Amino acid sequence: MKIKEIETSRINEVDFTNLEFGAVFTDHMFSCDYINGEWVNPEIIPYQPISVSPASRVFHYGQACFEGMKAYKDINNKIWLFRPDENYKRIIKSSLRLAMPEFPENLFFEGLNNLLKLDSDWIKPGLGNSLYIRPFIFATEGSINATEANQYKFMIICAPASSYYSGEVRVKIEKSFSRAAKGGVGYAKAAGNYAAQFYPTTLAKNEGFQQIIWTDSSNHEYIEEAGTMNLFFRIGNKLITAPTSDSILDGVTRKSLIQIAKDQGIEVEVRPIKVEELIDAAKNNTLVEIFGSGTAVVVLPIKGFGYENSKYELIQKENSWAIMFKNILNNIQYNLIEDPYNWTVEV
Ligand code: COI
Repeated sequence: MKIKEIETSRINEVDFTNLEFGAVFTDHMFSCDYINGEWVNPEIIPYQPISVSPASRVFHYGQACFEGMKAYKDINNKIWLFRPDENYKRIIKSSLRLAMPEFPENLFFEGLNNLLKLDSDWIKPGLGNSLYIRPFIFATEGSINATEANQYKFMIICAPASSYYSGEVRVKIEKSFSRAAKGGVGYAKAAGNYAAQFYPTTLAKNEGFQQIIWTDSSNHEYIEEAGTMNLFFRIGNKLITAPTSDSILDGVTRKSLIQIAKDQGIEVEVRPIKVEELIDAAKNNTLVEIFGSGTAVVVLPIKGFGYENSKYELIQKENSWAIMFKNILNNIQYNLIEDPYNWTVEV
């Protein structure tokens, strides 16, 4: 693999105490091209703009998918990835759904490891600090023929991160717009899934919510996921989350939390959850907590939600499961405890 290092690092220009999520990138990036049926030219070069044809399929038909991963630095300056094999498997699943070629596993990890070693100073130790890693694939063939492309680019860029949201988060249960339909691309991390959410989310923001809870596209009766995270509901003494499906993303944090919760002796129900059940639970005070899970947000307690014209507030509990799960997960991710699951991988 060709590696061309930067001459002068930009790291001293960055205020690591005040990071906007995904707005600052490290010194290097990894890229590899798919041409004539083969992945060629794997290289790490200084982070910079790239040049592609304006006719690239990605701009016209959205043939692109991505992943979200994080690297953590422990107190001994060792770097850890969290379940990276799951991200690799999912980008392959997403690529197949979007008719894109599989990126080879050895190149994925060789590129990622070399990049992390080169930009390791950008990963700050300490709880809450991490490096958000964004692998992505997009169609570069310069033709607007509406079929799958025969040229692609795979890239990895990295952004130092602290928290995704800076304040309290309230969500709106959406009844008109849909994120994903049965048989669609909802389970894939397709770029277009996110673009399609921006407009309804902006409308929700105008009403004082930070995100939307998506419901099924047929009747808007069942809860699916939120824009950047899967969802968990603590109702009575049970933890409930919707099963993954072809319209719900199979979140790595989600599946980790289900495992952790079970091992904490918590009764977990992975089953369809009706909006009606949530409203009833809120009304009869059995709804104790709602939280989101995802790579970017980790575990995010939700303060309240809106449905139709009503707003519901959740009272902060002292023995919050969201906080407990976040602590357990962080202890594993930052190598503060022995990882009982073998989820972490040293770089
Ligand atoms: C992630 O959590 O990694 C995601 O992909 C959500 C993102 C859109 C910020």
